[in-house]
Amino acid sequence: MKILICGGAGFIGSNFILYLAEKYPDYNIINLDKLNYAANLKNVKKLEGSANYKFIKGDICDKNLVFDLVKDVDVVVNFAAETHVDRSIMDSSIFIKSNVQGTQVLLEAAKEYDKRFHHISTDEVFGALGPDDPSFDEMTPYNPRNPYSASKAAADHLVRAYFHTFKVPVTISNCSNNYGPYQFPEKIIPLFICNLFEDKKVPVYGDGQQIRDWIHVDDHVRGIDMIIHKGKEGETYCLGGKDSEITNLYLTKTLIQLMDKDDSYIEYVKDRPGHDRRYSIDYGKIASEMGWEPLIGFKDGLRSTVDWYQNNKNWIDDVRSGDYRDYYKKQYINR
Ligand SMILES: NC(=O)c1ccc[n+]([C@@H]2O[C@H](COP(=O)([O-])OP(=O)(O)OC[C@H]3O[C@@H](n4cnc5c(N)ncnc54)[C@H](O)[C@@H]3O)[C@@H](O)[C@H]2O)c1
Repeated sequence: MKILICGGAGFIGSNFILYLAEKYPDYNIINLDKLNYAANLKNVKKLEGSANYKFIKGDICDKNLVFDLVKDVDVVVNFAAETHVDRSIMDSSIFIKSNVQGTQVLLEAAKEYDKRFHHISTDEVFGALGPDDPSFDEMTPYNPRNPYSASKAAADHLVRAYFHTFKVPVTISNCSNNYGPYQFPEKIIPLFICNLFEDKKVPVYGDGQQIRDWIHVDDHVRGIDMIIHKGKEGETYCLGGKDSEITNLYLTKTLIQLMDKDDSYIEYVKDRPGHDRRYSIDYGKIASEMGWEPLIGFKDGLRSTVDWYQNNKNWIDDVRSGDYRDYYKKQYINR
């Protein structure tokens, strides 16, 4: 099988490529990524030079390039996106371009050459839950509440429209918050781990009572593998974590404990505007159709993630370059 992975130099895309290359050594993998600030080719360094792997630096909005690549593959998996909510609040224009227009270009190519297309989406398209609301599932109406989730929702609608209008063989997965190796340290878990390594405080938004459903990236990539091989065309699948619906404050305290610090390292900062209170996923559909369920409990996953960052401090130094430092100052220091 020949598979085009878009956004394979980012966090989840690179974990997916490493997983695929190990599980299916005969697959041909093409990684198309424009290498934005969150990308890091070192994530997939061990595949460099391998006959079955090729990296192409390019943008999913580039129609000629995309058509050229899609023509020759069997499956397209789209991870490529601008992904950080805080950045979308500062300026949403690139989110609309990459997440919406880029997806439309990929869909046009999949339509032209009748290729299987899997789109990676997020639970944030569903909006926010109250404390007693049932978890999100595939039937939950869309209600995005920030520019990032609005751009992801728009892309999901386009993917479904290409199925219904043109019969493009698509699937979508909506997943909860991921954590694990190779995540850029602007997201809460790697940000806090990196701060604690440097003996710095960790910035907790508002009262820290926002609830997230954490899934280890290894569980997520295993689910994507199942969907591209066994998923039904035109269907959506929700993926979430194992017993891991927890508040940001609980997460912070667990991390602090794991890293032998104390609560004096917590610094409460002004909340993000429009911060969603609770996300939670019911993954019953993929469990019953394909037997997928998350295997990694939150505490074990968090411990192994801390160990990974501990053993990969060079990776952290590399990604925390100029662009990131400017962003960190704007976001947490000049507020
Ligand atoms: N991280 C999470 O918790 C989470 C949860 C659910 C869904 N998702 C979705 O999973 C996907 C991957 O997320 P991630 O956390 O790995 O993000 P990431 O920011 O780490 O990686 C995104 C990658 O996409 C690339 N990219 C961005 N715009 C591009 C463009 N126009 N053309 C080509 N490449 C482009 C970037 O260079 C980067 O390598 C995204 O679609 C995101 O919405 C993420």
